[in-house]
Order: sequence, then structure tokens, then C-alpha cells
Amino acid sequence: MPFTSPDRSPTATDRSAFLLAARGEPGPHTPVWFMRQAGRSLPEYRAIREGTTMLESCMRPDLVVEITLQPVRRYGVDAAIFFSDIVMPLKAVGVDLEIKPGVGPVVASPVRSADDLTAVRPVEPSDVPYIADSVKQLVGELGTTPLIGFAGAPFTVASYLVEGGPSKDHAKTKALMHGDPKLWHALADRLADVAIAYLAVQIESGASAIQLFDSWAGALSPRDYAEYVQPHSAKVFAALEQYGVPRLHFGVNTGELLGLMSEAGADVVGVDWRVPLDEAVRRISAASGTPKPVQGNLDPALLSAGWEAIEPEIDRILAEGQAAPGHIFNLGHGVPPTADPEVLHRVVRAVQQKSAR
Ligand code: CP3
Repeated sequence: MPFTSPDRSPTATDRSAFLLAARGEPGPHTPVWFMRQAGRSLPEYRAIREGTTMLESCMRPDLVVEITLQPVRRYGVDAAIFFSDIVMPLKAVGVDLEIKPGVGPVVASPVRSADDLTAVRPVEPSDVPYIADSVKQLVGELGTTPLIGFAGAPFTVASYLVEGGPSKDHAKTKALMHGDPKLWHALADRLADVAIAYLAVQIESGASAIQLFDSWAGALSPRDYAEYVQPHSAKVFAALEQYGVPRLHFGVNTGELLGLMSEAGADVVGVDWRVPLDEAVRRISAASGTPKPVQGNLDPALLSAGWEAIEPEIDRILAEGQAAPGHIFNLGHGVPPTADPEVLHRVVRAVQQKSAR
């Protein structure tokens, strides 16, 4: 339900540091959370996952709730991210896939022809009762801490479906895009519908914001992104506008695409560590005619560089983030499995204290 809806007054969650920053409004401090804050860097995550596959864990509300809450309890981050994976909606509609430890999603029969598209249909709420259950329980347990729902963007999910697994160069995906644009657009359009349906379930169950991950979009030129990807991501953002929740968008190595990703319809643009936030704000303003809140962008590699190296980076990022109407502190990509939870905790405390207003 929209924040501005006349039949609903703002809740304490609406006034949380995260949602205020995401809406470009001043708040008590710069909010901070980490992509992949739940996961192998946490000993309590490794313990609870013992003997359960990733896919199974994502389908069990007891595990989803506990794993989502682990980093919130430990770090006091300003937002929770729903524990799931970008391939879960595909799994829910029957696509044969696995999530291999240390590798990522692996698809048994990669998409090669129009016939292969029949497997890719939007999720119905009845396909994913465990998503609605988990989100509702989480929202109850989180109190005023917002829950971020998420989905994979059409390009990044298509890459797993077309390549059959993780890829460095996304060569088969690009070959399909350029060699059979009709099939590409049909696939990406279906994946937009998948993301819309999956995000709608999360929002309707109580998620306060959503993030559309186009992690691998940075593999594309701006021209290819504009022609083959942006319309499909734009379809996702447009369909979600009615809910009034902030829509975040993120990809790695997307310095050249920040304006186009903003134009796709994001309310908050995620930035990796390669572009300073003030420069990111300039690129977004130039494309959209108006600055937008940004999210980022500490280089995850620095987490193992020692506090003397990390602290000045936090100061620099907080200062550069002032150029935006709202800044959500995050890493430039996910928490590495080798990250020390003590360091992450120290980053959270430092960001919240240094930015307190
Ligand atoms: O804490 C969180 O951020 C929430 C959980 C989350 C996971 N996947 C859990 C996960 C989120 C938001 C994702 C999204 C996701 N999945 C993306 C977009 C974000 C990004 O990192 O760019 C992508 C590209 C994927 C695909 C995927 N799934 C990869 C690359 C991997 C990692 C492979 C590995 O083991 O290193 C996965 C598996 C996965 N998803 C794990 C987790 C915690 C590891 C599973 C394990 O613990 O064995």
C-alpha cells in the first residue's frame, strides 16, 4: 500500500532510517545493510545450514526466517533482506535446477529455442506458499526494521538459463540476444513477468521495499543494455509502481549504465565500488533530470584490509553520499564468505555513529 495512501498513516517502519533514505527524506542516520549479509560468513548460518541444501533452505519458512534474522540480530543493520535466491521463482514453476555450493545456480536444460520457453511461466501465489508465510512471519518478528524483498532482473536470470550456470563472459546469452532477438525478447519478457509476480507476493505479504538484482548487466555495452535489457527491467518497475514501496536496482560494474538503470524506473540506484557516489549521482541526474537516492559502495575486498584502511573509506563514502538526496550505505557487492563478522559489525556501528544527525 502506498506510503502516501490517505487510508494509512505512516508506521514506525515507514519512519525508519532505511525507508526515509530510500525516499530521499532526512533521517536519524545513514542506514546500512549488506548484500549477502546472511550467508557463509556467519558461523550461525553455517551451523543452521548443516545437512540442508540451499534450495530446501529457501523453501522452509523456519529456516528462511531464522537465517534472515541472523545478521539483523548480530549487526543491528537498518534493513533485513529476505533469504532466498534469484532462481527460486524458476524452481517454483518447475525449471530443473540446483544451487551448487561454491558454484551457484546450475540449470539442467539451458534455454536454446522457443520450445524451451514453455517451462518459464510466472509464479502463482499457490506455487510459493512458503514465500508468503516466511515474509509474514518475518515482518512480525522484525518490528520496525524494514524487510527488503528481491528478485533477479530479466538479464541476470536469463544468463543462468541460457548459459546453464555461472558465466564470466555471458557469451551464449549475448549470442542469443543478437542472433535471435525475437527469442531473446520473448524470454526476457517472460522473466519480467516472473519477477513481477514473485515481487508482488513479497510486497503483498509485507515487504517494505524491493531490490531488483541485475548483477551481471555490467557485461553489456550501454547500447545493448538500452535495446535488449532496459525495456524488460522497466516493465518490472512499472508494474510495481502501484504498491508505492521503494524500488532499488543494482548491478556490478555498471558505471556506464547507471543513467540507464535509473531510467528503467529505480527509486534508488545501487553503485559498486568503481564509481564514487557523487559521480554516480551526477550520472543519474544527467540521465533522469533529477538526482536520486543511491546505495553503496565500500569495496568488499577492503573488509580484510584492516580497520586503518576501512575507516577512511567509510568517511569518504559518507561524504560522497551527501551529494544524493538519500544515501543507503552498503558494500559495492555481496559480503565475501571469508569476511570477519566482527569487522562487519564495526562497519555498521561506525556508519550509524559517524552519520548520526
Ligand atoms: O543476505 C542476502 O543477501 C540474501 C540472500 C541472497 C542469496 N542470493 C543467498 C545465497 C540474495 C539476495 C541472493 C541473490 C543472488 N543469487 C544474486 C544477486 C546478488 C549478487 O550477489 O549479485 C545472484 C547473482 C545469485 C546467484 C547465486 N546464488 C550465486 C552467484 C550464488 C553463490 C555461489 C557460491 O556458493 O558462492 C548463489 C548461492 C547462494 N545464494 C548462497 C547464498 C547464501 C550460497 C549458498 C550456500 O550457503 O552454500
